[in-house]
Amino acid sequence: MSIFCRTTASISRTFTRSRFQPSTLPFTILRPASTMSHRVPKLNDPSLLKTDVAYVNGEWVKAKSGKTFEVFDPSSGKLIGTAPEMDAEDTQKAIDAAAAAFPSFRIKTGRERSKMLRKWYDLMVENSEDLARLITWENGKPLADAKGEITYAANFFEWFSEEAPRIYGDTIPASIPANRIVTIKEPVGVCGLITPWNFPAAMITRKIGPALAAGCTVVAKSPGETPFTSLALAELAHRAGIPKGVVNIVSALKNTVEMGEVLTTSPIVKKVSFTGSTGVGKILMKQSSTTLKKLSFELGGNAPFIVFDDADLDVAVAGAITSKFRSSGQTCVCANRIFIQSGIYDSFAQKFAAKVKEFKVGGGYTEGVTHGPLIHDRAIRKVDSHVRDAEKKGAKVIQGGQKMPELGENFFQPTVITGMTTEMALATEETFGPVAGLFKFDTEEEVIRIANSAEVGLAGYFFSKDVARVSRIAEALEVGMVGVNTGLISDPAAPFGGVKESGFGREGSKYGIGEYQTIKMITYGGMGGDLQK
Ligand code: SIN
Repeated sequence: MSIFCRTTASISRTFTRSRFQPSTLPFTILRPASTMSHRVPKLNDPSLLKTDVAYVNGEWVKAKSGKTFEVFDPSSGKLIGTAPEMDAEDTQKAIDAAAAAFPSFRIKTGRERSKMLRKWYDLMVENSEDLARLITWENGKPLADAKGEITYAANFFEWFSEEAPRIYGDTIPASIPANRIVTIKEPVGVCGLITPWNFPAAMITRKIGPALAAGCTVVAKSPGETPFTSLALAELAHRAGIPKGVVNIVSALKNTVEMGEVLTTSPIVKKVSFTGSTGVGKILMKQSSTTLKKLSFELGGNAPFIVFDDADLDVAVAGAITSKFRSSGQTCVCANRIFIQSGIYDSFAQKFAAKVKEFKVGGGYTEGVTHGPLIHDRAIRKVDSHVRDAEKKGAKVIQGGQKMPELGENFFQPTVITGMTTEMALATEETFGPVAGLFKFDTEEEVIRIANSAEVGLAGYFFSKDVARVSRIAEALEVGMVGVNTGLISDPAAPFGGVKESGFGREGSKYGIGEYQTIKMITYGGMGGDLQK
């Protein structure tokens, strides 16, 4: 079972400054000064960097206690700034603000809400360079990837701005002749949104976009590791004229659990959407049962990635590179278990490892860098333990496999391992890092049995040119999303979500807005009948 996918609460609890004291790090002396890999970005609009404040009821506020927590650049270990350590009382204030804003926001027309989202989208596009720099700074991903994320993130606002005016109900033929039945869709109410650090912009827009389109108001908890991107988005919401109280962004690190508890138990909050680990998802679901909230959870992955003998090898290698190493393996849809049919196993491994060898690892602002650091030292420890475990049990590291102290505490070599077996930790746990373990298989039946043995089922991928096999395997995989002959499935137009312990609900697409609505049925009696004479 995967419990590692962006553990927002548990990671936050153990994320301490002491691990990042720059003066104690070996890499400060080993790093070549000329690489410029750990620069501090210059923003075109410095007012987008909001430190020490959160956004509640249309205002920039500090934590009532005055406490803050520190946020560090994962590349350099250096302090970026501090954010408010908000507590239950601060969270309650944000919930109250969202509740006060709801009555007037819900009656705005879809077109009015659409225009606001569109304006917010336009501002994201205008400020995309700065937003990307912020992401690279606090998350570590290379600038090109961060720019890609901003486009992806903004597109959720664009998509849902187009959905907002098109919220339709049904007319339903009744069983009783004199009755008429119609349905209308209503916003569910105040929503609590809890988002992870791996996509500091896209995971929050994927939730706020449909919520606002539906007419809901929100309290979003920003990730403790990456609060500044969300706060920059709040600044743009302000500039876009989103009414006060409609969007509230709160922050916490140590108090993450307390904040989650308030959001999931408050009777005012009617819906919670969470992206994070399966373990934390189970806790939040239990807490939410006290008020029977509407929920949508996008949880851990452990995606199978299958290459059949009849696949186009180059396409499969390219797909594996994209799927496995996007964001250095820190996405819930990343390939985790790579299954290669025996006839092509050796040639795939060779080509794949050769491509991975070409990666350039470093600080995200450095020209040409393809892969950045992992988010923190706990992530490094997990990745390292998976590699060591595989080696101990007989696998062979054919590329990478080591930490990179010469770059910094959070860097790990992109790694390829052959000879994987199902006894190894990587087979059952999500690595959430840049380690590709290659498993050999012989038959369809065997690979589907192993692929489906996971308790989670978010994404799955396979490569084949056989049309009949394509439909057989797509239908047999127990996952919410399938990539056929592609390693990239994320698209605001596509329904994102899983089955089994990967959660429930769908984000993006025409289905995403439904997660923020309730269907009200209205029956009109005494209708119809004979025309009056
Ligand atoms: C995730 O890791 O959950 C998000 C991945 C994506 O949207 O592509």
